[in-house]
Amino acid sequence: MCGIVGYIGKDNAKKVVIDGLAKLEYRGYDSAGIALLDRGNLEIEKIAETEDKKKSKILQLDEMVGDKYKDAKVAIGHTRWATHGAPSVLNAHPHISNDGKVAVVHNGIVENYAELREKLLEKYNIHCKSETDTEVIAQLLSVFCAGGMNPAEAMLEATSMMKGAYAIAAIYEGDETEIVGYRKDAPMIVCHTDEGSFIASDMTAVLKYTKDVYFLEDDEMVICRADSMDIFDRNMNKVQKKAFHVDWSIEAAEKGGYDHFMLKEIHDQPTVLGDTLSRRLTSDGSIKLDGIKLSLEDLNNIDKIYIVACGTAYHAGLIGKHLIEKWAKIPVEVDVASEFRYRDPLVDDRTLFVAVTQSGETLDTLMALREAKSKGARVLSIVNVVGSSIARESDDVFYTWAGPEIAVASTKGYTTQLMCLYLIALHMGLLKGTITDEYAKGIIGELKAVPEKVERLLEKERDIAELAKEIYKKELIFYIGRGLDASVALEGSLKLKEISYINSFAIAAGELKHGTIALMDKDTIVFALATQDELAEKTLSNIVEVAARGAYVVAITKEKNEFFKKESDRVLFIPECFDEVSPLLSIIQLQLIAYFVAKEKGENIDMPRNLAKSVTVE
Ligand code: M6R
Repeated sequence: MCGIVGYIGKDNAKKVVIDGLAKLEYRGYDSAGIALLDRGNLEIEKIAETEDKKKSKILQLDEMVGDKYKDAKVAIGHTRWATHGAPSVLNAHPHISNDGKVAVVHNGIVENYAELREKLLEKYNIHCKSETDTEVIAQLLSVFCAGGMNPAEAMLEATSMMKGAYAIAAIYEGDETEIVGYRKDAPMIVCHTDEGSFIASDMTAVLKYTKDVYFLEDDEMVICRADSMDIFDRNMNKVQKKAFHVDWSIEAAEKGGYDHFMLKEIHDQPTVLGDTLSRRLTSDGSIKLDGIKLSLEDLNNIDKIYIVACGTAYHAGLIGKHLIEKWAKIPVEVDVASEFRYRDPLVDDRTLFVAVTQSGETLDTLMALREAKSKGARVLSIVNVVGSSIARESDDVFYTWAGPEIAVASTKGYTTQLMCLYLIALHMGLLKGTITDEYAKGIIGELKAVPEKVERLLEKERDIAELAKEIYKKELIFYIGRGLDASVALEGSLKLKEISYINSFAIAAGELKHGTIALMDKDTIVFALATQDELAEKTLSNIVEVAARGAYVVAITKEKNEFFKKESDRVLFIPECFDEVSPLLSIIQLQLIAYFVAKEKGENIDMPRNLAKSVTVE
């Protein structure tokens, strides 16, 4: 989604903002731009379609601007992920008012922009030039300033007329003293250091300068100056806030010698899984959950759990359901956030709502959380980004501690979400007495062994790279499995399609014969997951069925299941483990398959087409 960076201070503002935009590239964008105040003059440079498709647009923007404006001390910049109007220079941000006085960058959607455009035309004879919703903000701000308001008053007036979600930063010609920012339902962080003040969509843009950032809440406005920064509510009362300290290193947000962030993040997994787990184990090996205050009494007051999330996080939730129902004996429903929020779900004060999210800013998940909260549910969230909106609005927060995840395709985000769900499900089971200490110790022993087993799988990634060469030209790839494997299949399939653009889908193996098996022929590839001891033979029967229709079958099973070799074309083995923890291992193989297939196809792995890392619009 769109990324915003703003800077005012003593450094070269163009450089600070372009560097920040480069850090936000991972969010996904199709055009970019920067507005600067150079000796008071408002200057704008934008880029959309480029000759060189392989080269980063931010790099090209930087080259385009070159040495110009090197004395500018105030700038705002933007990476745009098109919603209203195609990617083009005209539609790229910053947008400037017709009188050339105000420049604005915006993340989110102004839902009533059409009505505001009409108002601008009728009342002030102002024609918007672009197709965007954002331009109305620049026009409104300039109209209000022309009418005598100062920039902060104009911002309050304009936002009082707007519906939707928006994080905004605005600068004004002739005013090198401030940047005005505003947030409603779209992420925005701000910070102040000796170098000046910064506004950004997320903290990766400012990690180079500070690890202490403030999160704006809805309907808060910030005024950034070179030597100070103040946050206000809508009544212009100053808001005192606590800074969030983020212990991410700058290196963690860099490729570290890998070809792609995705591969680096796949390889981060042994370390981050170890961290996520060890931070929650005491010296005697028992579980101690930070951030979760759920007592036995609380659990006894819960009739039902909803796990709500999107995409990969939703797939993690499916595994969570299985674990919580098995170990804590509490009924769990899993829902995608965009459906949950509009279906009037049966939620009350005896419901525990669990949000799973890497970014903590996914708008659908955030809105689902608010819907559940308004109906009285207690909210627990499993989040990676410290201090993100979902973390801040939850009653209990359990951080995944995965470090920054930059590649659009989530890998370590997913496995650390799973690790958290294991710990929460065990904790609930122990509290309720539905599992014994001994049983929990057994599972914890298995979880402790996961990082080393993941290492072993990664050591063999060359085999997967070879397999990718055989299959990357295929047009249809299935993922099948039973029980936990069916949920992992969904995630494997999503990974493949989002970065390789190969048509793929996942189905519970037992469902094949109810329709989908009609698609099987000699051109089909089937990844068959069979890691669950009790279900392995049943999945083997499904393998035989699809193989009989000509499909090329790659089985994924435990090392002991040598017999799969007979019925499958290829077998990828995972180390021996309890059935319950196999998702943490089998998914590694599927992540690698997706990665190497996309690499063979020469796709833009870290920033796949049409996708954004953090989906902050509906
Ligand atoms: O930040 P979140 O975990 O809330 O994001 C949810 C999905 O948008 C995300 O998992 C998406 O499906 C990934 N690109 C999948 O790799």
